[in-house]
Amino acid sequence: MKKSLATVTLLAVGAFAVSAQADTEGKMDAKAEFQKHCAVCHPDGGNVINKAKPLNKEALKTNGIKSWKDIVANMRNPGPGMTKFDKKEISDKEAKAIAEYVLKTFK
Ligand code: HEC
Repeated sequence: MKKSLATVTLLAVGAFAVSAQADTEGKMDAKAEFQKHCAVCHPDGGNVINKAKPLNKEALKTNGIKSWKDIVANMRNPGPGMTKFDKKEISDKEAKAIAEYVLKTFK
């Protein structure tokens, strides 16, 4: 009895946390996440620290980044000058959403 109550509470808290991050379409707001975590150094998909490594498709391809998985890997283990984002900072789900946003936004 006690255990199932705790489960319900957890589920409710979880659902609340998800809806708090969701935009009107019920999806995670990847754009806002990007603005919050990445835009300081990558405004409009650029790169203020290393101009040779912006986030447009051509540059990513040149540097061996082809899918959202490669972008997430880069967030977990970045090159020199970039902040490292672990799972506590950005969850796998958020990381994937941000990566897909990068791929579809910066051409
Ligand atoms: C403190 C500044 C900074 C922040 C914040 C930052 N980056 Fe970077 N990023 C860099 C630098 C510098 C590089 C180039 C690193 C290198 O030499 O490999 C880079 C490289 C990249 C690359 C590879 C680009 C290429 O053309 O090879 C990707 C993808 C990337 N960042 C994504 C992100 C994402 C997504 C976020 C937010 C979650 C983020 N970055 C946040 C500074 C930053």
